This record gives sequence, C-alpha cells and structure tokens, in this order.
Amino acid sequence: MREYNTLDDFEMEGKTIILRVDFNMPLDKKTLEILDTTRIERVLPTIKEITENNGKTVILAHQGRKGSWDFINLEKHAKALEKLMNKEVKFVEDICGEKAINAIKNMKKGDILILDNVRKLDYETEKKTAEEHSKTDLIKNLSSVADIFVNDAFAAAHRAQCSLIGFTKTLPSAAGRLMEKEITTLKKILEKPEKPSIFMFGGAKFSDVIVTIERVLRNKTADKILLTGLPANAFLKSEDYKLGDKNEETLLKEGKEEQFSEIKKLDEEYNDEIYLPIDFAISENNKRKEISLDDLPTDKNMFDIGTNTINKFKEILKNAKTIFLSGPCGVFEEEIFIKGTKEIFTFVSELDAFSIVGGGHTVAAVKKLGLENKMSHISTGGGSLEKFMMGEKLPVIEALKEAKNKHLKEAV
Ligand code: 3PG
Ligand code: MG
Repeated sequence: MREYNTLDDFEMEGKTIILRVDFNMPLDKKTLEILDTTRIERVLPTIKEITENNGKTVILAHQGRKGSWDFINLEKHAKALEKLMNKEVKFVEDICGEKAINAIKNMKKGDILILDNVRKLDYETEKKTAEEHSKTDLIKNLSSVADIFVNDAFAAAHRAQCSLIGFTKTLPSAAGRLMEKEITTLKKILEKPEKPSIFMFGGAKFSDVIVTIERVLRNKTADKILLTGLPANAFLKSEDYKLGDKNEETLLKEGKEEQFSEIKKLDEEYNDEIYLPIDFAISENNKRKEISLDDLPTDKNMFDIGTNTINKFKEILKNAKTIFLSGPCGVFEEEIFIKGTKEIFTFVSELDAFSIVGGGHTVAAVKKLGLENKMSHISTGGGSLEKFMMGEKLPVIEALKEAKNKHLKEAV
C-alpha cells in the first residue's frame, strides 16, 4: 500500500490535470538552447498516460532562478516536448492570469499545454507551508479550472515552493510515474540496501558531500565510501597533505577553511570505511601524466585519479551489491582526464550490483560513455537525491503523503 496517491487512483477521462514537472534544463550560455532533454524524456510516461486516457495536461515548471542568465520562458521546453511526444504542445506566456485560464478552458481531451516559467511569480519561491501557499492567485486561479494535481518533479522535491506543494491543499493530488519510480527505488536503497553497499563521491563540490557521507555511514546505508575529485582532495588536505597552490585554491573557492577540521574528525572516526585515492593525473605538455601521493605537492591541477587508484577501487567495488555514484572521478570533459570516470563507471555498469547514478554531471558522464541503459537506476535528482539519501524528509513527498485520500470521492 502506497503512502501517496498515484495515477492509478484517478479516472482521467476529460479531466484537467495540473502536472508540476522539473524541466529545469542545462542551457547553452550563448544560444540559450536546451543542451540535454533527459528531464523531459523522463516525464514522458506520465504525460503519455494522461493523454492516452483522454485527460488534459496543463504543465507547470520552472527554469533557472530570477536574475540568473538561464531564467527564460518555457517556449523552448514546449518545442522540445512537442518533438518528443510527436504531438502538438501549446505554450502560453502566462501563468495564472486571464490568458492562462482561457487557454485551459479551451483545451480538448488529450491536449497538452505548458504555462510560463512559474518562478516569474515572486511568491513562488517563498518558503511557506502548503496551507499558506494555497491562498495565492496561482493556486486559487488554477485550481478553479482543474480537477487533479499531479507532481512529477522529483528533482525539485526538496523545495517547499508554492507550485510544488500548494495544490495539495486544493485539489486531489498524486505522484506522477517518475516521482513514484524515484521514491520506490531510492527508498529500497536507503532502507534495505543489499550489502555490501558502496557510495562513491566525486565531482567539483565537497561542502554538502561531507554531511551526506556522515549521514549514510551513520545510518549504515553505506558500508564503504570511495572518494575522488574535490571530496578526495578535501579529505587529503584535512590529513595535512600539501596538494599545491592550485589544488588548495580550488578547494577554498568551493568550501571554507573551518570545514577541514570537520572532515578530519569524520575521517578519523570512519578511517576503515573511507577510501582515498593513492595517485592522480595531471597535465604535462597537454599530455596525461600520473603522479603518486608521495609526489605531492604539485603545481598542476589534479584532474583525475591515477591507474593505481582505479585498480584499488575496482578491487573494492567488485564485491558490492549496491553502488551509488555521485560525481565523476575527474574532469571527464577533457580527453586526458576521462580515464578514471570511464574505467570505474564502465566497471560498475558491468557488475552484478544495483547501481544508482545521480546528479547532473554524473548523468552527463554516464551518457557520454554510453552507459545509460547499463545502470540500474538513473535519478533525475541532484539536491533532492542527496537529501533523500541522507534520510531527510522532502517537502514535496510529505505534502503528497498528507494529501492521500483527500478529496478522492470528488475526483472519481
Ligand atoms: C534543480 O535543478 O536543482 C531543481 O530544479 C531545483 O532548482 P533550484 O535548485 O534552482 O531550486
Ligand atoms: Mg539546484
């Protein structure tokens, strides 16, 4: 028995359904074209199910944040969806005003409409309760012309924002198919991971990663932690290794000096569980050169793990039953630094283990390596995935749970 409603709980024929999705896309900085449509593709099962059942799909989504260069309207998103659905998708440059309401009223069974970037509304990003959010024009106006609310925005599930939780107070609400799949899969890993369970953290951020590592070790979600990229460098620095000016500057740009004492404590407490690289790759005359821990400090950027680390990590990974990959092992975008990510990710994809991949850069690496169909689960989440794996309650999921059974009678 699910803790929230799903599409199975509603009759969709002729119903107007507000579908909140996460279409926050990576854009080309110059052309503002969408670079990767993964997040749209992953919501297709929900949209197809609604349209095939003669429901009317009204899509609500955000792109970027107010003031950022990637804060644009959703016309391009509508075009991208139209192409993927092979079916007309209308876009209206309005969110909850007269234009939007009229467009919704004019919809026919099976139609798809995308409203404009919901973050154009100042109150969208205010952190309030679902009850408080439900008093806004957005929720009131759209609820007056809709029958059901479906939330498929797992990647934004950690945000208590208006369009993400407000409708659960006014409309019968359900999780979409993507949301359902993410929650079911990740919950299994969080609560009952098949052992041994190994979590790998890499990439170009370490501040948030420290808390996640601590939490998954404490909860026994992870038995071992393998570190690469900036998280590895941060742990090495806390062990008093001198990494060289460039590498240390990069660390301090991303995090704060005082975090290294936190890391040191964590490293000492879980010394047997946390594994660090023993060699690295740098660029010399534009060629890959590997150096060992003993060669440190270096005046070059350490942009990948070395061959000995790759072999050491493979040896540990080969017995794992659950593997969580967050962050590439190096700057895989550059040919001379792709080796670590390529060898480790390929190795993981071939193991008889449940492999989960998450975060924008990690998924991009998996795609570049052509491994997307060889991993067990690719999460659309970044921040939301991290919070979920830490065992935190996510506002969107909590709101959906609370809305279970609510208004069901009126809807069916
Ligand atoms: C994301 O891509 O992280 C989600 O869409 C949430 O967006 P935000 O981080 O700007 O709130
Ligand atoms: Mg984010």
